[in-house]
Amino acid sequence: MLAPLILFAFSHIASANAQHAGDQVIPEVHPKITIQQCTAPRSCQTLQREIVLDANWRWLREAATPNGYNNCIGIYSIWYTRLCPNPTECAKNCALEGAQYIGVLFSKVKMQGLTLRFVCSDSYSNTLVHVGVSELLPLGVDSTYQTFDLNNQEFSFDVDASTLTCGFNGALNFVKMDKDGGMSRYPGNQAGARFGTGYCDARCPRNLRFINGEANVVGWEQSEPRAAVQDGWATGQYGFCCSEMGIWKANANATAYTARVCRAGEQTRCLGLNCGEEPDGIYQGVCDRDGCDFNSYRLGNPSYFGPGKTVDTQGKITVVTQFHSPGGNLSEIKTLLHSKRPCHQQRLLNHNSISDKYCQAQKTLFGERNAFAAHGGLKAMGKAFQSGMVLAMSIWDDPESDMLWMDAKLPVDRDVSIPGVTRGPCTVSGYPDILEYDAQATKAEVTFSNIKYGPIGSTHEIQGI
Ligand SMILES: *[C@@H]1O[C@H](CO)[C@@H](O)[C@H](O)[C@H]1NC(C)=O
Ligand SMILES: *[C@@H]1O[C@H](CO)[C@@H](O)[C@H](O)[C@H]1NC(C)=O
Repeated sequence: MLAPLILFAFSHIASANAQHAGDQVIPEVHPKITIQQCTAPRSCQTLQREIVLDANWRWLREAATPNGYNNCIGIYSIWYTRLCPNPTECAKNCALEGAQYIGVLFSKVKMQGLTLRFVCSDSYSNTLVHVGVSELLPLGVDSTYQTFDLNNQEFSFDVDASTLTCGFNGALNFVKMDKDGGMSRYPGNQAGARFGTGYCDARCPRNLRFINGEANVVGWEQSEPRAAVQDGWATGQYGFCCSEMGIWKANANATAYTARVCRAGEQTRCLGLNCGEEPDGIYQGVCDRDGCDFNSYRLGNPSYFGPGKTVDTQGKITVVTQFHSPGGNLSEIKTLLHSKRPCHQQRLLNHNSISDKYCQAQKTLFGERNAFAAHGGLKAMGKAFQSGMVLAMSIWDDPESDMLWMDAKLPVDRDVSIPGVTRGPCTVSGYPDILEYDAQATKAEVTFSNIKYGPIGSTHEIQGI
């Protein structure tokens, strides 16, 4: 341990104060992956990229270490008040440590893809088992996130979600976060994209430890009755909002793809009703948290997606998502799924894609207000892409609503005969306190591979789609 300590002392003297980059114990070495940029099928250029772990899932420790490495936030997500008496002091006093990628977060990383594990044992963190959400964000060449404009483009990848049972979720999303992780805008953030800072999404997550270079310590509390969740699901007063295109949220039993937009063009810190939480904030938030989703089970076809079904989740599935923007305005998002068996895209409610018309028809059928339209609809989603969105891959369970919104029924007290209530076949609860201690959690993983993007029709040669 001597060498890292000497290095650390040096870097502490040299660095300015604020939410530091602190990979002194664990060097931050980003795993490499490749992404294909295509112009036509079989005509793709290979881009070398790196993957970085979201800052929220890292060891956050005291930047100065005269007496060893103290936690800034410890087990059950409790802030250490000596180091974090307020948002700015905390940013000054704390450093983000490097992440242990291979063998901990991933079981495998190949150039063409990666396998994200659900349960991670992290020997450097006080929290022995690291469970829950982990977002992984690809970096471009200059240690900023790679951004994508998918207007008039398609994005495709292969995914194996066969071990993700009810309650789990392996996701691939685009989010409108700052390309540099917020480093240039917020002097309190000196770690930046290299340490995975700046994540936001349209649910305006309040479990983020840092937003805009300040610690989210004010109003930080365990959300009861979840206190036993080992990694600690806690929330602060602020949330962090930005538009989000969930092109793949799924386990082996259920899936939905969802567009969610926000009134603000860029990422925004929210407080109170602005965070859009139920019941009062739902139509007042910066973002539309529900969004417009396409879930074939919810739309009335229970035999489309799942083990042994039309889209067979027992093996690898190819997911192709097309963003049609004639004249520059995004008007249709179409997702095509292809598994071992040839399959056709569902036509449900007379639609086989997300469009503003589909969203209205779906909201009417489900008896919901169309907050998606009120927040700008598909055009707003297209605009968010125009200035670039960041790709985030994750594996997670859901301490807020047990994943019921995707794979079971919600609201739980509503009759299942009402359209839109049943979203998937799951009946067992996705309650994290049960899931995380179940043997299945140790097997849960998701593999994303063969990531490609380019003009519509350029990324695959699957007949009939
Ligand atoms: C795109 O949106 C702009 C702004 O609302 C509008 O002026 C334009 O006509 C739209 N283009 C098309 C092709 O619909
Ligand atoms: C969910 O998928 C798993 C894995 O294939 C399967 O064993 C289980 O029976 C499915 N559950 C439901 C409720 O369909």
